[in-house]
Amino acid sequence: MERRIINTDLLDEDRVMDNSLRPRFFADYIGQEKIKETLKIYIEAAKSRGETLDHVLFYGPPGLGKTTLAGIIANEMGVNIRITSGPAIERPGDMAAILNSVSPGDVLFVDEIHRLSRQVEEVLYPAMEDFAIDILIGKGESARSVHLTLPRFTLIGATTRAGMLTAPLRDRFGIVNRLEFYEPEELKEIVVHSAVKLGVAIDEDGAAEIARRSRGTPRLANRLLKRVRDIAQVRHNGSITRAIADEALGILDVDASGLDASDGRVILTVINKFAGGPVGLETLAAAIGEDVGTLEDVIEPYLIQNGLLIRTPRGRVASELAYRHFGMPVTGSLPIDE
Ligand SMILES: Nc1ncnc2c1ncn2[C@@H]1O[C@H](COP(=O)(O)OP(=O)(O)OP(=O)(O)O)[C@@H](O)[C@H]1O
Ligand SMILES: [Mg+2]
Repeated sequence: MERRIINTDLLDEDRVMDNSLRPRFFADYIGQEKIKETLKIYIEAAKSRGETLDHVLFYGPPGLGKTTLAGIIANEMGVNIRITSGPAIERPGDMAAILNSVSPGDVLFVDEIHRLSRQVEEVLYPAMEDFAIDILIGKGESARSVHLTLPRFTLIGATTRAGMLTAPLRDRFGIVNRLEFYEPEELKEIVVHSAVKLGVAIDEDGAAEIARRSRGTPRLANRLLKRVRDIAQVRHNGSITRAIADEALGILDVDASGLDASDGRVILTVINKFAGGPVGLETLAAAIGEDVGTLEDVIEPYLIQNGLLIRTPRGRVASELAYRHFGMPVTGSLPIDE
């Protein structure tokens, strides 16, 4: 896949920045109001009872703040967080070892939790439900199963692919939250906060311009801010205005709605190769050379959210807005209302 500045996945360059700009408490976490409100209540209730928080699952497209929320929960609960990820845990024994090492009250954060193997997952079931695991000691005839009681802990799972979670795993989370794309106003606030932390001068309009073109995604807002800052420094006096943001984003090939070449490819494929649709998800994925999951969970949600692509029972359809966005006459058979 070509490198996209607009790609919302974690790039190496984000790692350092993600950590320095990452909010540590709810007070600095902008947006996702409903999630914040309910989590605050659950956390306060758990704390006042002296209990651990229920297991929490976060799902939604990349860069919306799932990992950040896991850290915030641990900070607000005043407990330690252990961080691991689905692909890192290869064998059931690895999972048992991790579980066996958590301290009472700890948060265990499992990123990309949909990538746990079935056998590893099975270790989690009794751990989540009864705070116990059964481990097999010894080999062959002398092997015996030992029942180990674990301290109470909170498992926080994150995934971009909720559809790939098995039902038994999903059902064991008491709190399930879907993260939404951010409103431009919220992203603007995030850009302003980040600019302060980075020591960059930016005016309201400059922040609004970066926000509007960040695909509803904080990770992208921060990344674009950093790139715009570079251009502001090299070509201008360092402070960011709308005109400078616009110039910089133009150089970076981010269009006026934050769409890039990959988004364009999806929409234009629907319009040009499939007469505007409907086209099935799998056919479309094959046509643009992406896997179905990435198209469905990572690329398409933003296009659907913004009314460029419409999901119908017979497949994806390019909206009238999509035709207009790319300056094309409307030719396809648009669904009236779905
Ligand atoms: N609500 C928010 N307020 C301010 N900044 C945020 C918020 N959410 C995310 N960010 C910023 O965006 C960055 C990316 O967020 P995070 O790493 O939590 O995303 P994610 O959902 O875990 O992504 P992935 O699916 O790729 O793991 C964070 O480092 C943080 O700087
Ligand atoms: Mg993450």
